[in-house]
Amino acid sequence: MCRLRLMANGTLALQLAIRALGITGKVITTPFSYVATTSAILWEGCEPVFVDIDPKTCCIDPTLIEAAITPDTTAILATHVYGIPCDVEAIDVIAKKHGLKVIYDAAHAFDVTYKGKSILAYGDASTLSFHATKLFHTVEGGAVSCTLKKPITTPVIAQFWPYWR
Ligand SMILES: Cc1ncc(COP(=O)(O)O)c(C=O)c1O
Repeated sequence: MCRLRLMANGTLALQLAIRALGITGKVITTPFSYVATTSAILWEGCEPVFVDIDPKTCCIDPTLIEAAITPDTTAILATHVYGIPCDVEAIDVIAKKHGLKVIYDAAHAFDVTYKGKSILAYGDASTLSFHATKLFHTVEGGAVSCTLKKPITTPVIAQFWPYWR
């Protein structure tokens, strides 16, 4: 089941996802994305750790992720660049092994599917942007989709849970 929370834009969607999942410390991310992917990490008081991309897909290279994990790492924030899905299966294996949360920046990936499922079904949460530069747009806008089944209990976020649909 996916829950969706509409937001004013994709940047706030990233920030809400980070906060809702209680992410702190270091976040492994991609250097090849829109600036908001990294600035959202910084604005939420976390530290971005860049891992290089796969030159074929322009998405984060999962084979390089484990070498960047330290005891402070709590999450991976990866972008489905130009709508090309990240290697979600490899990232899932690494995340489970190290107890990391996974957020996908799906700002470019509206209506993208992978193995017959919406790309939004992968990871703990995904974010969308409906900015005028995107394939599907509402001039400004965004959303967080989340695959969690249990209510989020992070105090600031819990009050918004009833509005996640
Ligand atoms: C990959 C990516 N992430 C995040 C954003 C931020 O979205 P918004 O402009 O709606 O804040 C964009 C928008 O350009 C983007 O391309």
